[in-house]
Amino acid sequence: MTEYNRTTIDPAEVSWIDVYRRLTEVVVPRPIALVSTVDGDGRPNLAPFSFFTVVSSNPPFLAFSPHRAGRSGAKKDTLRNLEVVGEFVVSITTRAIADRVNSCAATLPYGDSEFQYSGLTPSPAERVRPPLVSESPVSIECELVDLHSYGEEGGAGTLAVGRVVLVHLASEVLDSEGRIAADRLDAVGRMGSNLWVGTSETFEMERPE
Ligand SMILES: Cc1cc2nc3c(=O)[nH]c(=O)nc-3n(C[C@H](O)[C@H](O)[C@H](O)COP(=O)(O)O)c2cc1C
Repeated sequence: MTEYNRTTIDPAEVSWIDVYRRLTEVVVPRPIALVSTVDGDGRPNLAPFSFFTVVSSNPPFLAFSPHRAGRSGAKKDTLRNLEVVGEFVVSITTRAIADRVNSCAATLPYGDSEFQYSGLTPSPAERVRPPLVSESPVSIECELVDLHSYGEEGGAGTLAVGRVVLVHLASEVLDSEGRIAADRLDAVGRMGSNLWVGTSETFEMERPE
């Protein structure tokens, strides 16, 4: 048996940033939702979120978590938009668009479009107002069902949960049986600090009965 020489971190005794750093270094790899929203005037916004997962399959729900800005505690544009227009689209981040997705994390004035800033192309969704991202092979249209806030300080998260209403899949990433071929999708994820991770190294195990 491995005997680890452990240390401990008590969130009550250290800065939240230290806890954030350790948690984002160990909760890995995290998939990256590229989230489109619109403001009340229909102006689109695009931002990546790695605090992102599936929370229910039947019926299907996704969740991601925009945090209050670290220094100011200000709400991110994505959250401001969700509070006005309760719809979003999650597009999957692939290796081919990783640098453009990263550029969407720039802090732009409210209302300025990261589509224009990053060079990614909006295309109309079918059931919701926020656009799809043409360069991503998978986009998922969602209706917001819940916003749960965990505080108002810098770093406080708000869990945004959305009901999946339509999934768009590019045939280029499907195998002959209609499943997603991981190597064709070539999704990337996030580790701690500025580390990203690819999905080319996979392994298979039989699931126990
Ligand atoms: C790969 C990646 C993942 C990110 N994940 C999150 C996240 O889960 N939550 C968060 O609040 N910010 C996250 N960020 C930072 C936001 O994308 C960034 O603050 C962005 O400017 C928010 O945009 P908005 O103000 O237009 O909503 C991430 C950035 C990158 C590059």
